[in-house]
Amino acid sequence: MTDIADLTRSFGLLRLPDSIAFGDGSRAGIPAAVARLGRRALVICDPFLASTGYFSELLEGLDALGVAATVDSHVVPELPVAEVEAAIGRARAAAPDVVVGFGGGSALDLAKLVALGLAHGTPLNRFYGENLVPGPVLPLVAVPTTSGTGSEVTPVAVLADPERELKVGISSPYLIPRAAVVDPRLTLGAPPSVTASSGADALVHAIEAYTAQRRQPEWASQLPVFVGSNLLSSSLALEAIRLIGRSLRRAVRDGSDFQARAEMSYASLLAGMAFGTAGTHLSHAIQYPVGALTHTPHGLGTGMMLPYVLRAILPTDTERLAEIAGALGVARASAEESADAAISEITEIMSDIGLPRDLASMGVDEADLDRVVELSLTVRRLVANSTLEPTAENLQRIVHAAYTGMHRELTPSAAIANESETRA
Ligand SMILES: NC(=O)c1ccc[n+]([C@@H]2O[C@H](COP(=O)([O-])OP(=O)(O)OC[C@H]3O[C@@H](n4cnc5c(N)ncnc54)[C@H](O)[C@@H]3O)[C@@H](O)[C@H]2O)c1
Ligand SMILES: [Fe+2]
Repeated sequence: MTDIADLTRSFGLLRLPDSIAFGDGSRAGIPAAVARLGRRALVICDPFLASTGYFSELLEGLDALGVAATVDSHVVPELPVAEVEAAIGRARAAAPDVVVGFGGGSALDLAKLVALGLAHGTPLNRFYGENLVPGPVLPLVAVPTTSGTGSEVTPVAVLADPERELKVGISSPYLIPRAAVVDPRLTLGAPPSVTASSGADALVHAIEAYTAQRRQPEWASQLPVFVGSNLLSSSLALEAIRLIGRSLRRAVRDGSDFQARAEMSYASLLAGMAFGTAGTHLSHAIQYPVGALTHTPHGLGTGMMLPYVLRAILPTDTERLAEIAGALGVARASAEESADAAISEITEIMSDIGLPRDLASMGVDEADLDRVVELSLTVRRLVANSTLEPTAENLQRIVHAAYTGMHRELTPSAAIANESETRA
């Protein structure tokens, strides 16, 4: 039974920015969105943008509306906590009353963390985890230039702390930007490798939001940041899956294909809206230790893991995987065959955009697998959001299959039989 099929047993929850603008040219609205929130803006800008015409347009627009702007374009990859706290220190001197994030997921997450640090001080390790931010942060305007993270609408920022083996997340509804402006034209320059890894991550966000666990919230108590799959998030996630299924390959193959770029940009926004409340699950939990071991981009790890995770949930989540097959345009006669076809299609998409197929080709050694399982299980908010019981055995099966590249090991025999019949 899907969420949408039975409204008497389903629920809906979304937490979003006050305003979300999408469209070619929507960047012209950034200065007004900023001016509604403050008079002194700190603009955290991806280094690639600082020399572009888009950036000078933004500064001129702010000036025309009487908003004073200070710019910080020192965005260090992976966001080490010391660098983030240094950025908060620099920001204090400017005393901004609004923060703008303009760039990829790293620039947007840095903007969120600076807005947090300015409001509630440092060290930031007090806020690691869920719902630990004590109140509103400085108002944020988020403008993505990649199609992937959805950070422009989500309640989470990710950073690296040398005292922790894994990257850490700070998750709180207070981190949701007040305004998101998503202009696909800003993504045109992203190189194929960034388009592939961030686009793969957007597909994982949509599919994991759609296949997250369904548990009625305890409405009277403080809700977790991520409440699992629900009516409102599922509609958005399914539309994101449909669009990414038809445009991700094209966007990677030809970065100047504006139709594909626009579809990816919109889909990544929808996926962010969905997973920002529903949450993600096992591909993300497993990427944390894989990323720490291999220093590979987030989306490369989540995208590579997704087919293996879906194979493992197929026996218990056939219906929802069959709906994903419908969105991807590969539905077959039965739910089992459709679910299987969805996973095959996703595997092909990931391979066509050049993602590694298994953990071994990502640089993980066989000797590391037990540690990957152990560490994945520590990312509790993510493993608890899956429909699969979060046991070491279940994760071991997935991680071992992902190491050898044999997803079929995780496929139930009935589905394999069905598939060989259809292909014969
Ligand atoms: N907060 C969230 O909800 C969330 C979700 C998923 C991932 N993340 C985080 O986001 C980060 C990854 O973000 P990302 O994939 O957007 O990459 P990124 O922000 O790290 O950028 C990757 C590279 O692409 C460049 N770039 C960005 N936009 C460009 C453009 N339009 N043209 C040319 N170059 C461009 C950047 O300068 C950088 O060199 C990771 O740190 C991950 O942990 C956050
Ligand atoms: Fe992600």
